Amino acid sequence: MSTVLHINNLSKNYGKVKALQNLDLHVEKGNIYGLLGPNGSGKTTTLGIILGVTNASSGEYSWFGEAPTAQVRRKIGAILESPTFYPYLSGEQNLKVICAIKQVPLTAIEPVLKMVNLFERKDDPFKGYSLGMKQRLAIASAMLADPSVLILDEPTNGLDPQGIAEIRELIVSIAQSGKTIILASHLLDEVQKVCTHFAVLKRGKKIYAGSVNEALAESETVEMSAPDMEALLHRAQSFTHLKSFQHENDKLVVKLEDGANVSDLHKHLIEGNIVLNHLTVKRKSLEKQFLELLAQAND
Ligand SMILES: Nc1ncnc2c1ncn2[C@@H]1O[C@H](COP(=O)(O)OP(=O)(O)O)[C@@H](O)[C@H]1O
Ligand SMILES: [Mg+2]
Repeated sequence: MSTVLHINNLSKNYGKVKALQNLDLHVEKGNIYGLLGPNGSGKTTTLGIILGVTNASSGEYSWFGEAPTAQVRRKIGAILESPTFYPYLSGEQNLKVICAIKQVPLTAIEPVLKMVNLFERKDDPFKGYSLGMKQRLAIASAMLADPSVLILDEPTNGLDPQGIAEIRELIVSIAQSGKTIILASHLLDEVQKVCTHFAVLKRGKKIYAGSVNEALAESETVEMSAPDMEALLHRAQSFTHLKSFQHENDKLVVKLEDGANVSDLHKHLIEGNIVLNHLTVKRKSLEKQFLELLAQAND
């Protein structure tokens, strides 16, 4: 693992408003890292600071283990505010303008247009693009200099469901090409579907950080039934990684300890010659956990 971003005890005040308080964050190469929190929780402030657009009040951060310099920032592509494109220029012409500004060779254009699936529409004027296409062009422009890290603030805001799905797929495919992605979103669903890791912010404080899989797995509930319920109950109780065990109506409902998985339980049952006629795995929705976190966290 190599560290891409390390944030240490970062705070930002706007007058009396504590936009960010003592934030620690650690992003590894290849992560799709989600900053999740309601409006006003400090997400954009955090992105602004790590992009060098906003000054922190205290604390520090490093990129790739180095103090942030203009040199290091060249490895980072970002869309913080919707970039301004020229409405009457085509998608491709707009990218040519940006190449000139960023001093990137024009040969960079074709691959990014293909990546965001706009190559066929490259000659159409920007003003005729759908919102989703405009956002994809923005991502293309952020990728022109082939950055190692892509930073996105609320990447699907305002898009229709299809546009949202396209952007999410695009984010995942960019990450698969070896890039690290940091995105801010107030949408839990988005973080759950797209991110590998996330931190939850509430009023400028981090109240949770972890991997999305772990957050989902933490509360795995397994529901089972068998023609011979007695035998099932007996055998299941001897599985050593149960957190809880409950017999409801015709069903056995168990919770597994962290790290234990359903296939181990299933294997244990099979070895005890238990035949199941029903098995479902329920995960407490991340939404429930998120709402609980936001409610629990002390101010
Ligand atoms: N330029 C600014 N001047 C004053 N207050 C600001 C400014 N930018 C953000 N804030 C305040 O800082 C807090 C965090 O804002 P922000 O980082 O934009 O949150 P988020 O992106 O999570 O919605 C909010 O209370 C917001 O009103
Ligand atoms: Mg914001």
